[in-house]
This record gives sequence, C-alpha cells and structure tokens, in this order.
Amino acid sequence: MLNGKHIILGITGSIAAYKAAMLCRLLVKEGAEVRVIMTPLAKQFITPLTMATLSKHPILVEFFNPENGEWNSHVSLGEWADMLLIAPATANTLAKMTTGIADNLLLTTYLSARSKVAVAPAMDLDMYAHITTQQNLKTLAQRGVAIIEPGAGELASGLVGKGRMAEPEEIIEQVKAIFAAEKPQSLTGKRYIVTAGATIEPIDPVRYITNHSTGKMGYAIAEELARRGAEVKLISGRTNLPVPQGVKRIDVVTAEDMYNASVREWTEADGGVMCAAVADYTPMYVADRKLKKSDDDLKIELRRTKDIAKELGENKGQRTLVGFALETDNEEANAEGKLQRKNLDFVVLNSLRDKGAGFAGDTNKITIIDSNGREEHPLMSKRDVAAVIVDKIEKVIR
Ligand code: C5P
Repeated sequence: MLNGKHIILGITGSIAAYKAAMLCRLLVKEGAEVRVIMTPLAKQFITPLTMATLSKHPILVEFFNPENGEWNSHVSLGEWADMLLIAPATANTLAKMTTGIADNLLLTTYLSARSKVAVAPAMDLDMYAHITTQQNLKTLAQRGVAIIEPGAGELASGLVGKGRMAEPEEIIEQVKAIFAAEKPQSLTGKRYIVTAGATIEPIDPVRYITNHSTGKMGYAIAEELARRGAEVKLISGRTNLPVPQGVKRIDVVTAEDMYNASVREWTEADGGVMCAAVADYTPMYVADRKLKKSDDDLKIELRRTKDIAKELGENKGQRTLVGFALETDNEEANAEGKLQRKNLDFVVLNSLRDKGAGFAGDTNKITIIDSNGREEHPLMSKRDVAAVIVDKIEKVIR
C-alpha cells in the first residue's frame, strides 16, 4: 500500500521521538521511501545515526552542511514528498506551522510542501488541552492537515491523560487510510507513452552522433501525467535523470530503437507525447572497429531515420498525439507544418531565440500551436510547463 510512496518523516523535540525509530522502520517495511528531517532539539531525544540507519539515508537538520556549504533544498524536498508526516509533533512545531514561522528545515519544508501533511501530536496533557494548542490543531485541520490523534494513558511526566503520541502501528494505519482516500485522478485509467532525451547514433565502437537534449522536459511531462493517475511509459534516450515516480522507463539508444519501442508501445496507448530529440540522420554503416585517422578528410555518409511521430500520427485514430518543435527560425510556419504532416493534435513550440527556453535549463517558454491558433505562455519552470501541456492534453481528449 505504501509501496514507492515518498514520505518525509519530520521528528521534533519530544520524548516520544524514540517511537519515530519504530515508525520509520514500519514505513520502510511497507515499501515507502523515507527521508528524515529532525529539528535541532529532536537530536537530543534520538540520535541521527539511529534514524539514518533505519531510513537508509542521511538525516537532515540544517539548511546547509557547514562543512561544504551543500544546500538542503526544502523546495525539492517538498516537491519530492507524497506525504510530510510529522511524528512526534510538539506544541511548539504545531504553533509555528499555524503561524508560518520558518526557523528550521522542517518548517520551511512544510511551507514548501505540495504533498499531504499529517501530524501526530505528542505533549503533556495540559499543553495538549490548552486552548492555544487546540485552536492551532483546529486551524491546521481546516487547512487540510491530517491530525493523528494522541492516545490517553500514562505520560512521561507521570501524569495520566491525553497527549501520548499514537503508537507507530496506528500511525501507519492512518497514513494508509489517507492515501486510500485519494480521489481518482483526472487521468486514471489512461495510458501514455512519452519519448524523451537524445538518441545516440554510433559511427564506430567509440564515436557517435547525438545532440544537446537532456530529457528534462519529457521527464517532467511523464511525471505530470503519472501524478494525474495515468500509466506512463517513458521511452528514453540517454539522460542523467532518475526515473520519475510511478513511471515505467524503457531505455533505448538509437533512433531506430526508439522507433521500434514507440511503435510497439503505441498499440496499447491512449496518447503520446513526442518530446525526444531524435536524430534525423544516422551513419549509413557502423564501422565494427575504431576508424583510424589519416591525413585526408573523412566523409561519413548518413541516411534518414524514420520519423516516429509521423508513424504514430498515421495510426492515430481517436487518440491524442503531441509533438515538439525546437526551431531557430521560421518557428511558427515550421510548427504548423509539423502539425499537419505528423497528424498531431498540437505542437509545443520552443524557440532557441527565447532566453531560458530549450535545452538543459530548468525553465522553458512555449507556444502551443493547434488547428485553432496559438497560445503563448510566459517563461516557467519545466514542471509548470509540463502542467500546462497536460492540461491541454486533458482538453483535447475525446
Ligand atoms: O520534424 P522535427 O524533427 O522537427 O519534429 C520534431 C517532433 O517530431 C518532435 O516531437 C520529435 O520528438 C518528433 N520526431 C520523431 N521522430 C523523428 C524526428 C522527430 O518522433 N525521427
């Protein structure tokens, strides 16, 4: 049930922190990937070594590593997570969450998180019962934070009452219930293929022809489709990117490999996004030994590769097919040509003339072109561009 879920376990300075060790173990056992963020005080209650060992990753406490200046990005942590689970959550942390105080990594991550958030309060009975804490919990609940109620019983202070953090097994059950209550998403049941990255065309066993594509845009689209519930196959050329969560990656090398994989997977797909930078030409012959240099110039004969988008477009039926166009000149006329020639529903145009658009970077500036005209979008993160493209796909779906 928690298989593959990304969970940030936030631990704050409460005596119940010792239970976070068991909780972490259970989360990992359920198949979740866990990253632990501790508040500075939490380290007094349970050691980073214990939590690092159980979560299988170094724990995070500070905004940056003072030894080498490496930044612990709360924004990427917030994006990575499917759930931020704060257990134990002290009265202090709950109050800061309510008011937006951001004086440690856990709180900045909370403010950046787009994921579900759950808290398991732990404190003495009077602190728990105090009107301030109760109001803070109510406010957090109204904002969508799941409150995992503490139990009643003997507290560390010797007092008996409500305030004891829920037991790890109970927290796991509630975490599962929160995921189970997720609404079906807009693309649940749909199957998409996405091509991404650069292809590699060998010249000999050592050299090859390729291009500057990093695959970032295609990977962001695959991730966005999966986030909306689609089953995604990412047919990927060479990249250094990790496989997005919930996506099945099919690795390919040459344009021909990509063509074969795409044609095969297209039979079972409801749509496709052709984001790869596919080589248009490949060496006519691949030398089986390294080509020796001589004093003469060398000519390599190239032949045309097959156009994947065009082939899928010819067998499209009622399905959705999206192409990309990266141009240096005559952008719009070229993009419109592709729309017709490849039988695409729309073309995403990015011009190398726009600053911040195109290869490598984390931003892109696109114009969407379809048979009704053009929609120009401002410079955005590739993640936001992916959301715009998937919104458009949802509009096109017949
Ligand atoms: O014709 P051009 O290469 O400019 O078109 C770009 C679009 O076509 C992109 O969506 C790209 O992924 C796709 N394409 C393809 N197979 C090729 C060449 C391009 O799918 N061999």
